Amino acid sequence: MTLIDGKKLSKKIEQNIADEVVALKEKGVVPGLAVVLVGDDPASHTYVTMKEKSCKNVGFYSIVHKMPDTITQDEIIETLEMMNNNPRIDGILVQLPLPEHIDTTKILEVIDPQKDVDGFHPYNMGRTVENLDAFAPCTPVGVMEMFEEYNIDLEGKDVCVVGASNIVGKPMAALLLNKNATVTVTHIFTKDLASHTKKADIVIVGVGVPNLIKEDMVKDGAIVIDIGINRLESGKLVGDVDFENVSKKCSYITPVPGGVGPMTIAMLLSNTIKAAKRRVI
Ligand code: GUN
Repeated sequence: MTLIDGKKLSKKIEQNIADEVVALKEKGVVPGLAVVLVGDDPASHTYVTMKEKSCKNVGFYSIVHKMPDTITQDEIIETLEMMNNNPRIDGILVQLPLPEHIDTTKILEVIDPQKDVDGFHPYNMGRTVENLDAFAPCTPVGVMEMFEEYNIDLEGKDVCVVGASNIVGKPMAALLLNKNATVTVTHIFTKDLASHTKKADIVIVGVGVPNLIKEDMVKDGAIVIDIGINRLESGKLVGDVDFENVSKKCSYITPVPGGVGPMTIAMLLSNTIKAAKRRVI
């Protein structure tokens, strides 16, 4: 069994980005990321702090615009429009989830698609599905980078994606299809989850249910990618896979923490520097 080390790979990517930032700064360009954080969800605050720290590490300019959860939709839109027009800002990210009184789709559609480094705007989502140049969502792109690094060929592989969210499952399926994999997407209404996961060469799960994937649900030699991040009452961080038992059957598996999580942030930095490079004339 080979452990797919997302922490190590993300460090390598971030080092390359830091080197590129040095070169960009010589040309007068400092990549800039703006993050909008609404409310006081502790997990969101943790993620944003991690993103901010990573920006600092690679030499980006970054700002975090914090808003109370009493904020109106129009006020968020106004802030985003200011960021769209700010030439120092190359990438804009609205941390999700937003409070219930806010229409998330409307908010995401306000972000300039050229600054949409999270890849959540329908413009980028559509282009991703069509295999055109686009900002694709960071978590699924991070998973694709892991396949590349470990020379895992996807062509003709049976891949089962567990979870059909807009930010993980759906774009994950599109990216896999673009690499000629045969993709099954399962979700909460799937009748018999195990019947699908058992057949798959590769299982990718991101639903936020600890221990959902057990050893009798994967075949021998399977590749298992765990996108889940769950904090147990004990404080322990676990994924959606029963790692201890499933890992014994796998050819490759990602750990939690230290798997997909750090790759998501690395891909955010990668999308942001890609946006900033367009400023170089
Ligand atoms: N909430 C959970 N994951 C993400 C993510 O990747 N980006 C943003 N903006 N919000 C999230």
